Amino acid sequence: MEAEQHPVVVLDFGAQYSKLIARRVRESRVFSLIVPYDTPLDALRRLEPGAIIFSGGPASVHAPGAPMPDPGVFELGVPILGICYGVQLFAHMLGGKVRRSDKREYGIAHLARAGAGPLFQSVQPQTQVWMSHGDAITDLPPGFEVLGTTENCPYAAIADPARKLYGVQFHPEVVHTPKGSRLLSNFVHNICRCDANWTMGSFVDLAIEDIRKKVGDGRVVCGLSGGVDSAVAAALVHKAVGDQLTCFFVDHGLLRKNEAREVMAAFADRGIRVVKIDAQQRFLQRLRGITDPEAKRKAIGDQFIREFEAAARQLGEARFLVQGTVYPDVIESGSDSAETIKSHHNVGGLPADMKFELCEPVRELFKDEVRQVGALLGLPDAIVWRQPFPGPGLAVRVVGEVTEERLAILREADAIVREEIAAAGLDRQLWQYFAVLPGVRSVGVAGGRRTYRELVAVRAVTSTDAMTAAWARLPWEVLERISARIVREVDQVNRVVYDITAKPPGTIEWE
Ligand code: XMP
Repeated sequence: MEAEQHPVVVLDFGAQYSKLIARRVRESRVFSLIVPYDTPLDALRRLEPGAIIFSGGPASVHAPGAPMPDPGVFELGVPILGICYGVQLFAHMLGGKVRRSDKREYGIAHLARAGAGPLFQSVQPQTQVWMSHGDAITDLPPGFEVLGTTENCPYAAIADPARKLYGVQFHPEVVHTPKGSRLLSNFVHNICRCDANWTMGSFVDLAIEDIRKKVGDGRVVCGLSGGVDSAVAAALVHKAVGDQLTCFFVDHGLLRKNEAREVMAAFADRGIRVVKIDAQQRFLQRLRGITDPEAKRKAIGDQFIREFEAAARQLGEARFLVQGTVYPDVIESGSDSAETIKSHHNVGGLPADMKFELCEPVRELFKDEVRQVGALLGLPDAIVWRQPFPGPGLAVRVVGEVTEERLAILREADAIVREEIAAAGLDRQLWQYFAVLPGVRSVGVAGGRRTYRELVAVRAVTSTDAMTAAWARLPWEVLERISARIVREVDQVNRVVYDITAKPPGTIEWE
């Protein structure tokens, strides 16, 4: 980190959205990093924070073993913003009171601010906020005043301006608090006077420095999937340690039509060593008879690592494995105190006896930030703007058992979806668009004869970070062309449906 940058340090009390706080701060061009809530005071001091943010968290301050920071944090003279559980800590530790509220407040609320003040600059007197809490402050600690209230929460925003302690019961980091980013920016700029000098370029410099420190002169291998995440991770590592890096591109037979060829071509002239491993048969063998989605993911994740280990052995000793893990993968695999939704194969699916140390340079970033880094590193548009593709590939889109025949059907249908979306100029507006083979057959008619064939589901979603997604309102004509072409060109299919499920409650992939 450059010496003159004073980071905004987020103390993580186990909130699902801690990284979102850091991301919002980065958007206001101030460097932010996340540390565990029990980071010793000396270590905190050494970070020379320009501000500290206490994240939310699922605990109650009264629960046995509830996470608490070192009380000395209030004496550092650094401004602090407490969010949700974080602001309850102010009351609990500084002489106020927190009680279980009668009603758990969850969802949209309307904040009425008490006055103007630096925290609410450019925020309307009434503004929407998003709440999610069971406990609430009932008595303010000495020195605090009320900055805003909601219908159910008299202390929705509070402050002790003399000590620069600010707190909000709602979540400014989520999109359902439309002025939340503004509020965080007000905190870091108006109150903490942090300089707006952080850019994605600074991220690149820092990441390169970190990689060099971690890797030293060791050998590094990277699993390249052709997706933007692993490509950017590889490009960063290549920039940091050059030829110490060898990339492996595993053709697991679960790729989209022509994908293997396209990926090899894209990396061929970048000076990055890429070795292709033909492992189709081994993966198919491994997947035989497996129908449970989690079992499939674990099997694929495990086989991936075995492939790398075998390939890396031929190279000589490689110590590090680069992965393009991005932040939403981490949240959804439950490795960051959130409940497990799916084991993303590059996170939760790793076998316990894996021989590599991991190097995950874009782990803290969201997909759109990864794209910015990719563009900065000069990766071609075809890679930077490639739609996300899951590590387990088409296996999570073939519902039930994965066979060569079913993959072939899906591949053809998926290619048509992609071609038509691109032809309509919609590819950059959509987060993902693809075909799914649910394993349902239905009766149809063709040439006057009864047919009984596969059904294809088309999924197209908009999103900014894959944490939430909306089904895309595709023009009817585009859907019509996709449907007509699939039933005409893919023999085994006689029916096409469009998936109109948001995330949540659905996920983007079907498995
Ligand atoms: P879901 O289906 O959980 O997906 O809403 C969220 C995003 O993650 C992608 N995805 C994965 N990416 N390894 C990955 O690298 C995986 O195992 C994996 N599973 C899902 C998915 O395509 C979507 O963009």
